[in-house]
Amino acid sequence: MNFVKLDHFYVTIFSFLCLMNSYGQVKNTSAQQYKNHCSGCHGKDLSSFVERKWIYGNSPEEIMNSITIGNENNGMPAYGKTFTKEEIKNLTDYILTEIEGKTLQGLEAQNPDFQKIIISDDLNFRVDVISDQLNGIPWGMVQLPNGDFLVTERDGKLYKIDTKGQLTTISGVPKVVAKRQGGLLDIILHPDFKKNNYLYLSYSKKHPNKSNKQTTAVCRAKLVDGQLIECEDIFVALPYRTTKHHYGSRLLFDTKGYLYISIGDRGGRDKYPQKLDNFLGKIHRIHDDGSIPKDNPFVNKEGAIPSIYAYGIRNPQGLTIHPETKEIWEGEHGPKGGDEVNILAPGHNYGWPEITYGINYIGTRITKYTEKEGMEQPIHYWVPSIAPCGMTFLSSDIYGTWKNDLFVSSLKFEYLHRLKMDGNKIISEEKLLEDIGRVRHAYVGNDNFLYVLVEGPGRLLRIIPQ
Ligand code: HEC
Repeated sequence: MNFVKLDHFYVTIFSFLCLMNSYGQVKNTSAQQYKNHCSGCHGKDLSSFVERKWIYGNSPEEIMNSITIGNENNGMPAYGKTFTKEEIKNLTDYILTEIEGKTLQGLEAQNPDFQKIIISDDLNFRVDVISDQLNGIPWGMVQLPNGDFLVTERDGKLYKIDTKGQLTTISGVPKVVAKRQGGLLDIILHPDFKKNNYLYLSYSKKHPNKSNKQTTAVCRAKLVDGQLIECEDIFVALPYRTTKHHYGSRLLFDTKGYLYISIGDRGGRDKYPQKLDNFLGKIHRIHDDGSIPKDNPFVNKEGAIPSIYAYGIRNPQGLTIHPETKEIWEGEHGPKGGDEVNILAPGHNYGWPEITYGINYIGTRITKYTEKEGMEQPIHYWVPSIAPCGMTFLSSDIYGTWKNDLFVSSLKFEYLHRLKMDGNKIISEEKLLEDIGRVRHAYVGNDNFLYVLVEGPGRLLRIIPQ
């Protein structure tokens, strides 16, 4: 063989290998950037882009444009200052390559095996799929006295699921603005449900006159013959806003019969959470008919909204009651980093956005303070974020040492987070059900079982100790 040709051959092979290697590096960088910056909202497996009905188009140029300019009002951060043009182009290539030929059904098939026994730190358990027929995003759930479940779906449906998994649609739910994080959200039964059939739904409600504004509202209705009747709003958070995120919306009755409602900052973090003249970025406490308890912390303060119980809160999507102390614990979806668990006390300020352990989604700083006089520290916080939603203490005895531990759903990392507790102290943490899908809610039924709601396709799962 001619020496020159051979040389040329080696040079070609060498540059090919270099090219492959740098392609590999680019792909790794993009994958890492995707994981750090995008996966929390768009899915670890890029599921939000698979079979997507693209709003702004899916040509490489259009996608690059979406990433660069974002849509802050709809919850998509602008990354034009976070990444270089080159990085945005590579991210775009990464997304388009990764989703090519994939279907949602295909992603679903990679889900875990529900048959096997799962061995965790202190307990072996099994997962019972009660239903996998929820299409959209299940958000809240309750168990009825007869053992059936009511589950809300964010797009505006309420289902009854019987213990065999049979789904029935319940009519009479309020009209919701099912856009972005809004829709039909939490559900809770009145403590005397058996006698009065009352239940409560939180949802995003359209402004009566202005078509582009909405807010969080709570309606009380009666469940009669499998239908809701007399649905009446007993709480409407003001002001209405054009934004479609941070509704908060978790509902909880304490042991004395007060109803707590968690309301997010609705994207107006510098305007609302630190001021008492509005409902946003607060926890509210009302009577079961919407009236205001006389002993609420700000009832006598001029200009303050009297239902406010605690303030300085970002997007509170978890509320649960400690089985022994009976204190109310709040779970808060943070910015990038800085998800929190707080113990609520009347009139306390939880600091958002003056103090936080998080930063903006695009990497810039919100504040340099993590603590300040007069502002509460969280009992626990996560950096990086796990994107928590619903949470519950496990009050029942059937799970051994899991009793009194706190179970927090993780949307972002798609598992159930267990905080092992000793009284009010978190002694360690454990990840359960990894890769199960975006976990929306954790709930203890009146049958003492722990239930988990998972997104896409929506599932209601029961955890059975072995
Ligand atoms: C905090 C949540 C959040 C994060 C983080 C986020 N996105 Fe988004 N993204 C959204 C939402 C919500 C939309 C839809 C916006 C709308 O409806 O206008 C969106 C839209 C998009 C679109 C346009 C989709 C279409 O239908 O046209 C692209 C592309 C996109 N995101 C890519 C990314 C990339 C890449 C990252 C990471 C660098 C990222 N997003 C991070 C929430 C997020």
